[in-house]
Amino acid sequence: MPSTHSASKPVGDILLVALLPVATFVIGAGTEFSERLMTGAQRFERLQLDELPLALVAFSLGLAWFAWRRWREMLRELDKRRDIEAALEGKQIELRNLSRRVTESQEVERRAIAHELHDELGQTLNAIKVESVCIRNASADGDSTIHATALSIIRLTDQVYSVVRNMTGRLRPVALDELGLAEALEHDLAEWRQRLPEIKFDFTADTLPEKLGDPCAIALYRIAQEGMTNVVRHAEAHNVSLALTFHRESAVVSLSLRDDGRGVELHTMRSGLGLLGMRERVEALGGAFRIESQPARGFRIEASVPFDVGADAVGVA
Ligand SMILES: Nc1ncnc2c1ncn2[C@@H]1O[C@H](COP(=O)(O)OP(=O)(O)OP(=O)(O)O)[C@@H](O)[C@H]1O
Ligand SMILES: [Mg+2]
Repeated sequence: MPSTHSASKPVGDILLVALLPVATFVIGAGTEFSERLMTGAQRFERLQLDELPLALVAFSLGLAWFAWRRWREMLRELDKRRDIEAALEGKQIELRNLSRRVTESQEVERRAIAHELHDELGQTLNAIKVESVCIRNASADGDSTIHATALSIIRLTDQVYSVVRNMTGRLRPVALDELGLAEALEHDLAEWRQRLPEIKFDFTADTLPEKLGDPCAIALYRIAQEGMTNVVRHAEAHNVSLALTFHRESAVVSLSLRDDGRGVELHTMRSGLGLLGMRERVEALGGAFRIESQPARGFRIEASVPFDVGADAVGVA
C-alpha cells in the first residue's frame, strides 16, 4: 500500500519540474517578458540589474547541485540504516535463541533436581518411615514415650514427604511427562478446585497434535501455572477459564487464561517477574504473547507457540 503512494510522488515531481520551464517559456514568449525586463532594467543600468537572470541561473544550478548532494547523502544514510537494522535483527534472533537455550537448560536442571529429590530424599524418607513404624509396633505394649515419639516421627515424615512431592511436582510436573499438556493442566485444575472451592474453574482443550514439541508444552504449562498463581494472588475472581486451542493452519497452539476479577490498569501496573518470564518464554520460541486487562474487568493472557518448535532440542524431549 505505501509503495503506490511513494512511487507516484517522484513521477509527479519530475513532471512538475519539466512542465514549469515549458510553461514559463510559453508565458514569457507570449508576453515578451524578457524584452520588457531588459528594457526596464536598462533604466537601472548603474545597478547592473540586467545581470540578474544569469545570476539566477547560477543560483538554480547551485540549488540543483545542493539537492543532488543531499540526495546522495540520504541514500548513503538509508544504506547505513538498513545495515544497522539487519544487524539488529540478527542480534535479536541470537538473543531469542540464547533465551530459549537458557530456558531449556533450566528445565533440564529442574528435572534433574526433581529426580534427585524424588530418588534420594524420597527413598531416605521412606526408610525413616519404615524404621519408625517398626519402633511404633515394637513399643505398642511397652514404653509409651518411645511409642509417642515413633508416631510423631511418622507424622513428620509424612509431612516432609508431601512437601517433597509438592516441590518435585513444581520442578518437573510428572503429569506433563506422563499424561501430556491438556491432561496435566486438567490435573492441576482439579487441585486448584479443591483448594479454592469458591472459584469456578472452567477448562476446554482441542485435540492437540501428536508431535507437540516439549518446549511448547513446557512453556504453555508454566504460563498456566504462573497465570493461575497470579489469579489467586491478585484477581479476587469468581470465574476462571483456561482454554487450549490448536490452530492447524498457522501450526500454533494457543493458551488463553481469563478471569473476571478486579483487573488492573496495564499502563500503571507494577511489573513483576511472572508476566515478564511468560513473555520471554513465548518470544524465545517465536510465538506471540498478549495481555489484556482493565480495572474491574478481569485479566486475560493469550500465548501462542508454534507446536513443533524445538521438538529436536537436545535433552528436553
Ligand atoms: N489475574 C490478574 N488479575 C489482576 N492483576 C493481575 C493479574 N495477573 C497479574 N496482575 C498484575 O500484574 C502484576 C505483575 O504480575 P507478575 O506475575 O509479573 O508479578 P507478581 O505476581 O506481582 O510477582 P512475581 O514476580 O512473584 O510473579 C501484578 O503485580 C498484578 O498487579
Ligand atoms: Mg506473578
